[in-house]
Amino acid sequence: MAYAKSIIDDIFGGIRPAARALDKSASTIQGWYEAGTIPQKHWEDVIEHAKAFDHYLTPDDFFPVSSPAMSSHGYPFEKLHCLTIDDFHRPDIETLLSLGEHYLDLSVQKSPDRSVLRGKTLVNLFFENSTRTEKSFELAGKRLGADVISMQVASSSVKKGETLLDTATTLNAMNPDLLVVRHGSSGAPALLSQKVSCSVINAGDGMHAHPTQALLDALTLRQAFDGDTDGLRIAICGDILHSRVARSNVKLLNMLGVEVRLVGPPTLLPTDVDRWGVDVFHDMKTGLKGCDVVMMLRLQLERMSGAFVPSKREYFHFHGLDRTKLAYAKTGAKVMHPGPMNRGIEISSDIADDPDISLITQQVETGVAMRMGILHALSNAQDGVRS
Ligand code: CP
Repeated sequence: MAYAKSIIDDIFGGIRPAARALDKSASTIQGWYEAGTIPQKHWEDVIEHAKAFDHYLTPDDFFPVSSPAMSSHGYPFEKLHCLTIDDFHRPDIETLLSLGEHYLDLSVQKSPDRSVLRGKTLVNLFFENSTRTEKSFELAGKRLGADVISMQVASSSVKKGETLLDTATTLNAMNPDLLVVRHGSSGAPALLSQKVSCSVINAGDGMHAHPTQALLDALTLRQAFDGDTDGLRIAICGDILHSRVARSNVKLLNMLGVEVRLVGPPTLLPTDVDRWGVDVFHDMKTGLKGCDVVMMLRLQLERMSGAFVPSKREYFHFHGLDRTKLAYAKTGAKVMHPGPMNRGIEISSDIADDPDISLITQQVETGVAMRMGILHALSNAQDGVRS
């Protein structure tokens, strides 16, 4: 078996020579190197170019990412929880993105491996509404063979006054392996992770973090830009103040070498934004200039107690994305939105529904594969601790 590192070192002579031979950026090859795996969609290309170096590889020579041996090759993924992007180093992120890519390929082939989570139980515990995150974790768990319970908080004992910790302790007594939590309070999933004996995944906590959304967004970008996001310029626009998606995306995209800009009215920017390590703009014309990607955010009216915008109509006029404002970005720029969308408030339907521009449907599709990858990595790490 010639795993990623030996393919890159022994066949191509290292990261930079491999990048030249394969016509990829050095950071892409470094990502494969650190993750210990080469994404399946590049195998054919690598096999072809390896012939010039007198190496005749077959698919069996690539690292089998779903093998239990994963952690013994390349960088070992040892995290038991997925709470914030801050908890991960770049190699962890590369491992997660490689696994997400692996499941994206498999899902296209409609042949998920149901043995990965066989015998494991996943509990979805959502105290805030969700369509995409909850359903994609449910589907991801089922596709990998887990028993999945999605607790209906509205009809649970939470409504009789049971506290978050008591609810979690009760669920913990049923011995789940993975607990996916969404809560309106920042830090709630981290608190639970200290009280339960299973892996906790943050599915969004208050305005704090939404790490799995950031990971699926990064994977969507890699798919849209042929695996290479290094040096891209992305504008995240709108209600930054209330957005856990923006907070997690800024951290992850910065780590991946993407140039991030924030664009929004001063009332919708956090007071500490100067410490986020990004450029800040208040108008779309200068903010979108030269951007490869425009990520629009939902105006989170449910988290607003005062008047943050004069009116929805005026907000759309100055900050909503339409074709006129998109023209400020690079020709061919792509548009993202984590959903749910407020059509006609932060984005026009015309843009959201244009398949040549919008990556919004791809974000949802990628979300299932990325969450399969996250469940797989955490489950492997649990097995490593138990063995
Ligand atoms: N993006 C996102 O978190 O969507 P849901 O609220 O539908 O899960």
